[in-house]
Amino acid sequence: MVERVLLCYGTRYGTTAEAAQEMSKAIQELGIRVDLVNLKKGPPSDPLHEYDLVIVGSGIQAGRWTKEPLNFISHNADALAKIKVALFVVCGSAGSPDACQEAQTEYLDKIAASYPSLNVISTGLFGGVFDFKKYNFALRTLVRSIVKKQMQGNEVPEVVDFRDLGKVRAWAAGLVRDANS
Ligand SMILES: Cc1cc2nc3c(=O)[nH]c(=O)nc-3n(C[C@H](O)[C@H](O)[C@H](O)COP(=O)(O)O)c2cc1C
Repeated sequence: MVERVLLCYGTRYGTTAEAAQEMSKAIQELGIRVDLVNLKKGPPSDPLHEYDLVIVGSGIQAGRWTKEPLNFISHNADALAKIKVALFVVCGSAGSPDACQEAQTEYLDKIAASYPSLNVISTGLFGGVFDFKKYNFALRTLVRSIVKKQMQGNEVPEVVDFRDLGKVRAWAAGLVRDANS
């Protein structure tokens, strides 16, 4: 029975934090206690054996997770092996039907496979946001040209938003139900 969930994540521009907050609300609505931890600010304060489910996620930049959640998994691999684990990422590719399968493989399946001791019960791939106002000039120019290709040459707006928070909430609630079955 899932009674307590640890939900921890790494973010660069804040979209993964928003997704994690939605997940946290959806799980709390089921009457379950959730500890939400931004790993950039520090590790969870309580020991992992106090949790029945640990959800770990990251935003993706240049094909990679942020370092904090990866370090969290590798430093706690032994403790996590005894707990149900779910992984999620927030990325641009999730917004493109052509790129989704590759993103699932590269950002989730390969991460799960690289920690074979983990009991990964679910993975979630969610669309993120390109907010060009938040990037410096060089990054804006580079990322804009990549997104423009993805949009088949169409004009790229100041904010490209692939979020689907309903999907995020449904995944979080569903994985808690699966963990209980
Ligand atoms: C410099 C940069 C590189 C990115 N690289 C990728 C990438 O390789 N693959 C991808 O799917 N999304 C990529 N994205 C999109 C991000 O994953 C997306 O903006 C996401 O919302 C970031 O999450 P965060 O706001 O939590 O940091 C990139 C975004 C930026 C700004």
